[in-house]
Amino acid sequence: VDLSAWTTLGVPARARELLVLEEEADLARWRERREAAPMPELVLGGGSNVVFLEDFAGRVVRLATRGRELLAEDDAARLVRAAAGEPWDGFVRWCVAQGWGGLENLAAIPGSVGAVPVQNVGAYGLEVGERIAWVEGVERDTGLAWRLPAAECGFGYRTSRFKARESAFMVITAVTFRLPRNEPPRLDYPDLQRRFAGLGQDVSPAEVYAAVAEIRARKLPDPRVQGNVGSFFKNPVVSPEVAERLAAHHPELPRHALPDGRVKLAAGWMIERCGLKGVREGGAAVHERQALVLCNAGGAKGADFLALARRVRETVAERFGVRLEVEPVLVGCEGVVQPLA
Ligand code: EPU
Repeated sequence: VDLSAWTTLGVPARARELLVLEEEADLARWRERREAAPMPELVLGGGSNVVFLEDFAGRVVRLATRGRELLAEDDAARLVRAAAGEPWDGFVRWCVAQGWGGLENLAAIPGSVGAVPVQNVGAYGLEVGERIAWVEGVERDTGLAWRLPAAECGFGYRTSRFKARESAFMVITAVTFRLPRNEPPRLDYPDLQRRFAGLGQDVSPAEVYAAVAEIRARKLPDPRVQGNVGSFFKNPVVSPEVAERLAAHHPELPRHALPDGRVKLAAGWMIERCGLKGVREGGAAVHERQALVLCNAGGAKGADFLALARRVRETVAERFGVRLEVEPVLVGCEGVVQPLA
């Protein structure tokens, strides 16, 4: 099976088998198939955060279950549940159209609902974990249903317990969001602050949605036009001492103090300062407007992205003494790999 259409990076890769699950009942079909023909497996949502480095010698399981509903509401919040296969942005737009605020800062992000808890998707001042009430799923091997409240999901910057090793055995089938009714709009991100300066709380979810979508369109390549997986690296988090030392040499390096005292550095800025914008390895290129994004400049193979990521990492490490961590999931012939760990 050709997988190139199933990921936003659009690199050529094949799998031995593709199983598309459209209803929860299909989960049983999957179990039967696994017992009949055991092989490595990989669960795929919207394919917007995965890089196939080569052909995958196994079964790709694509979760395409649909459905969204208001479960309950009171004066403080609404509980809204969506199936894992719902396209994320369609779900956010649906919430905004109902007049339900809470997710609008996460506008226009590719991918599926089931994928957002995995890397605790975050953008423009909000991390999705802050809006998750609980996550539901099944144990892959036993089919046993589980349900985890947000506090037990291990949400952190671009990470969760679903991204860790055990993730392979925990298949997310639905996410329930808690959308607060009386919270002021999140406008801390500099571009949003500027855009809505002076308006205070008098900004609707629809206006925030439109502003975020517009900022994204300006900075980030549309995966339908040019393949990409968003940020290819995480913004590195360093100790206050390291941050200070770096700031002494590079006063303009954007830094963001975290609640625990550590400091998050803008990797895109460092990559740009290394003169890497536009640099290519094969068909993979550092994006011209946002250096944290690597894109498919045409005919790229997975291995091109690995080569380019290595080069970016080495250059940044030499110049700034900071190690960049890869953000998307990299997949080799047997499953998830970490060649740059
Ligand atoms: N910058 C540069 N040059 C660049 C890129 C960035 O100088 O080429 C500077 C910017 O001027 C800014 C700072 O670096 O001062 C931060 O840039 P930006 O606000 O564009 O965001 P980012 O830190 O590069 C992160 C997320 C994005 C998210 C944006 C907005 C990560 C790994 N990435 O990027 O998430 O959309 O913030 O909140 O945390 C993703 O994960 O796929 C993703 C796109």
